[in-house]
Amino acid sequence: MQPDEPLVLALPKGRILKEVMPLIRAAGIDPEPAFDDDDERRLRFATNVPGLHIIRVRAFDVATFVAFGGAHLGVAGNDVLMEFAYDDLYAPLDLDIGHCRLSLAEPDPAGPLGHMVTDAAGDTPHNVGHIRVATKYPNITRAHFARHGIQAECVKLSGAMELAPALGLSRRIVDLVSSGSTLKANHLREVAVIAHVTSRLIVNRAAFKTRPNTVGAWVNRFREVAAHAA
Ligand code: PRP
Repeated sequence: MQPDEPLVLALPKGRILKEVMPLIRAAGIDPEPAFDDDDERRLRFATNVPGLHIIRVRAFDVATFVAFGGAHLGVAGNDVLMEFAYDDLYAPLDLDIGHCRLSLAEPDPAGPLGHMVTDAAGDTPHNVGHIRVATKYPNITRAHFARHGIQAECVKLSGAMELAPALGLSRRIVDLVSSGSTLKANHLREVAVIAHVTSRLIVNRAAFKTRPNTVGAWVNRFREVAAHAA
């Protein structure tokens, strides 16, 4: 990275953005034009800090922008970091926001999809070698089931995983759960927590090497802000 190149901070769109923005402002960064949510269609913003830009991308893509050096810093959940396992970035700081969990869910036996559990009672992780799971996280899902000696076939979706059981794509899903209301509304129940998720500050390794003072100063700044917010 060249010394005069703007530093790019990648932020996640969606519900996490509302939790991220107070930290960004507390760190002394104000995007121009200002935003607090996704209403503005613009993707790249200057800031009040000379030489610092913000991009706003899908939560799942923040790690990719940072790993490939398109952005130098970012905010990403450890679910995404686990799924991609990029070598080119590191995550020095847990920001203690975006708390949720990555869970395995299946039809609630007491609900209208309960027949799916009893009809296929043999298809349990204890006595089958192969099951199908709808998820945005095929790598984490396969690794989770492999630890139990089961080969998981993943149906890759980008959202609305909770529809998969009712529509016959798969009996199980692996997805993020926060309040649990989306699972409940779709007659599913959480059966295993695969990972507890929070958002981390992530840094491109090459940027940290070539501009250690600038990038390191931002890591320290966010460390102070996160400690103060805790
Ligand atoms: C996430 C996740 C679940 C839902 C869980 O989706 O994929 O669908 O939130 O939250 P809950 O337990 O509080 O109901 P989100 O709404 O962020 O949208 P997405 O499908 O675009 O990821």
